[in-house]
Amino acid sequence: MFASLKSIASFVPSRCVNNFDFEKSIDTTHEWIVERTGIYTRHFAEDKQFTSDLAVEAGKKAIDRAGIKNSDIDMVIVATLSPDFLGMPSTACVVASKLGITDKPAFDISAACTGFIYLLSIAKSFIESGACKNILIIGSEKISSILDFNDRSTCVLFGDGAGAAVIGVTKDKEKSILDVHVSSNGDYANLLYTPIADSKSAVKQCLNMRGNEIFKIAVKTLTNDVEMILNKNNLSSKDILFFIPHQANLRIISAVAERLSFQKEQIVLTVQKYGNTSAASIPMAMNDVYESGKLKNGDLMLLDAFGGGLTWGSALVAFDGIS
Ligand code: ACO
Repeated sequence: MFASLKSIASFVPSRCVNNFDFEKSIDTTHEWIVERTGIYTRHFAEDKQFTSDLAVEAGKKAIDRAGIKNSDIDMVIVATLSPDFLGMPSTACVVASKLGITDKPAFDISAACTGFIYLLSIAKSFIESGACKNILIIGSEKISSILDFNDRSTCVLFGDGAGAAVIGVTKDKEKSILDVHVSSNGDYANLLYTPIADSKSAVKQCLNMRGNEIFKIAVKTLTNDVEMILNKNNLSSKDILFFIPHQANLRIISAVAERLSFQKEQIVLTVQKYGNTSAASIPMAMNDVYESGKLKNGDLMLLDAFGGGLTWGSALVAFDGIS
């Protein structure tokens, strides 16, 4: 018995913000943002639209596309760095409640932009141990709630959104989550973090990033990670139909893809329209392939992510859903 990806779905909030909108409030230009990041637009949630609301929309669609009912879900796990509440309740508990999924385990994980790969790793273990039959995993972010809109080095990079999947059971290894690798190194925690707001100074809890230092580590780590998972599974980049890297920066993606000899038609790109949506980035990109009609049952995807922690991970996933 193997764990497999039964469905993929996403939700993108309707408010679209382009680079020219930022020119009005901070010292930046459309040209700088496009040249350094590849980003043209990103979407931001409304004030009263929370991370759980985005997650619920994506989750509903994922359950529907898997051809099951909400009551068939045995576990809900959410990856986010912008939860509804700091500490508790978890966003997953809020999401499960909104979906009418009760008396089932629900919890969040914190792995920043690598969140979705960590979710796959956890869901695979629970399914293959026989403990669960269907797990709803969701990467969801309202990053706009933790951005400092006066900090030009971070606020132009991120966007809000959610991506969800149902992980179920298959007997066919060829249509399963073949392998997942996740890792971390907390020695680099200071490169990307959100400080805890303290009650005395009332500091807003905004994302801090030393982007330039992260850039070099990201290219090296993402490349090594892909080489490792391909070698371990006796595969080469030619065997992969869709290479779906974390969508943080077009220059990072291009550098990694070039080192790994991926061809243009294999590389999935959404950074230009969504920006970096952290834990939602990979499932949103997978959903774009699905909704374009290109993703067929049995197609092999290679996912690769890197983020705050530092954390990183890769996964070899064959699609086991309805095309
Ligand atoms: N507009 C205009 N100028 C800017 C802007 C802006 N929006 N932002 C920064 N600059 C300036 C800087 O101040 C700097 O000016 P200076 O030379 O006078 O000091 C100059 O541009 C160059 O800045 P760098 O930081 O060196 O620019 P770089 O080319 O490295 O691009 C970026 C910055 C886009 C952040 C890039 O480093 C990057 O993408 N890093 C990796 C991000 C990442 O992958 N993070 C991990 C995942 S995120 C997560 O886990 C939540």
